[in-house]
Amino acid sequence: MKKLEAIIKPFKLDEVKEALQEIGVYGMTVTEVKGFGRQKGRTELHKGAEYIIDFLPKVKIETVIEDKMVDRAVEAIRKAANTGRIGDGKIFISSVEKAIRIRTGDTGGRSALIHRPANIFSDIPLGFLVNTANLCRAVSSVG
Ligand SMILES: Nc1ncnc2c1ncn2[C@@H]1O[C@H](COP(=O)(O)OP(=O)(O)OP(=O)(O)O)[C@@H](O)[C@H]1O
Ligand SMILES: [Mg+2]
Repeated sequence: MKKLEAIIKPFKLDEVKEALQEIGVYGMTVTEVKGFGRQKGRTELHKGAEYIIDFLPKVKIETVIEDKMVDRAVEAIRKAANTGRIGDGKIFISSVEKAIRIRTGDTGGRSALIHRPANIFSDIPLGFLVNTANLCRAVSSVG
């Protein structure tokens, strides 16, 4: 398992959340944070004097996913969060040893992230299932 920590511009949160849901992430935690990157914040003029704002508001998204989803998740975040301007953010990836679902005690990797009894779908990528479910919903709402 890997944890992705994505620090993004706050107004991009919805787009990034939707992009991650589309590929079937299992859950996420979102925090309002402040930070700076290599430009060290920005300079502002106040009453004629220039001063530096060190910390700019950002949003941090944390999501723990299976290793095989990392590339797709990184692409989804990049595509959704990119404005092409400085301060678009960063993604940090680290290894996660263990996850435990409190309610069931499910532990380890996959079983703690997703939960399907007697897993007949386990070899089907979750993103495919999500997209299929969305398609069914769309078709049934049209019909
Ligand atoms: N090395 C770092 N460690 C921890 N947090 C970081 C680091 N670099 C950036 N961040 C966080 O990511 C936010 C966005 O960084 P930012 O996009 O400005 O990175 P950058 O390297 O300066 O790239 P760019 O040149 O595109 O601005 C920062 O405000 C900070 O919260
Ligand atoms: Mg920067």
